[in-house]
Amino acid sequence: MTMSHQVITKAVIPAAGLGTRFLPATKATPKEMLPVVDKPAIQYVVEEAVSAGLTDVLMITGRNKRPLEDHFDRNYELESALAAKGDDDRLKRVQESSDLATMHYVRQGDPRGLGHAVLCAAPHVGREPFAVLLGDDLIDPRDPLLSRMVEIQAETGGSVVALMEVDPAQVHLYGCAAVAPTDEDGVVRVTGLVEKPDPSEAPSNYAVIGRYVLNPAVFDILRETEPGRGGEIQLTDALQKLAEDESVGGPVHGVVFTGRRYDTGDRGDYLRAIVRLACEREDLGPEFRTWLRSYVTEEM
Ligand code: G1P
Repeated sequence: MTMSHQVITKAVIPAAGLGTRFLPATKATPKEMLPVVDKPAIQYVVEEAVSAGLTDVLMITGRNKRPLEDHFDRNYELESALAAKGDDDRLKRVQESSDLATMHYVRQGDPRGLGHAVLCAAPHVGREPFAVLLGDDLIDPRDPLLSRMVEIQAETGGSVVALMEVDPAQVHLYGCAAVAPTDEDGVVRVTGLVEKPDPSEAPSNYAVIGRYVLNPAVFDILRETEPGRGGEIQLTDALQKLAEDESVGGPVHGVVFTGRRYDTGDRGDYLRAIVRLACEREDLGPEFRTWLRSYVTEEM
């Protein structure tokens, strides 16, 4: 494996989607701002990027996404009210989100798909490898994934996707990878990718979960990528082209994730994520677990 010495510092977070699955909650509030316990979902994602050393965060937003910018900015009025009350705990929590990372925003004017959203990052990213984190997938901070992907990208110089084995009946919800083994534990070579295949045509049950560390050659390919599944420019289609021709931007590898992942893009999964995370919280957990146990045994 060849070594690439470019240190990755940039994370791109596409957040332009309409969030129709959560209407009417998302009529005037971005879906990324929906709370998971007491933090907006998007803050978990930015925290994950920062934990992997990526402190330059570019969000791809759209109309009606102003609350995202406000959340990662200072709120002096709130801060001075909390300071005047001596409520240091809450003051700290309010300041946390504005101190996390260097935030940048660019708007995706037309919703032309995930590939197009990533292409909007090209002027900011330049010719460096970079990470993409999708906001609907939350990865438990106790199960680091992104830092491992960054490591593999540095070793190979190519691109890396996060893969998870799913029930074959679920592959039609994901990008799906054809894979070959490597010498490294938990790392596979990606030989092909297909966006949301019919289970009968899926090359495997390895699903792409929303984390990518990409060689910038992906931008050149995205510029040429025609709309694919759903009439949208698909990131998966661009990665397929990288996987089939290594001379373009190096090989594509997959890091197989076996840790805890919460999907907040679907209402049922969103509720499960909240219950699991609330149960595990030191402050809320003990009381909430006791209530949940009696609710489940007595009322259901
Ligand atoms: C997107 C990608 C898909 C990937 C998924 C992961 O789909 O297009 O390849 O597997 O994210 O969450 P979406 O869920 O946005 O439709």
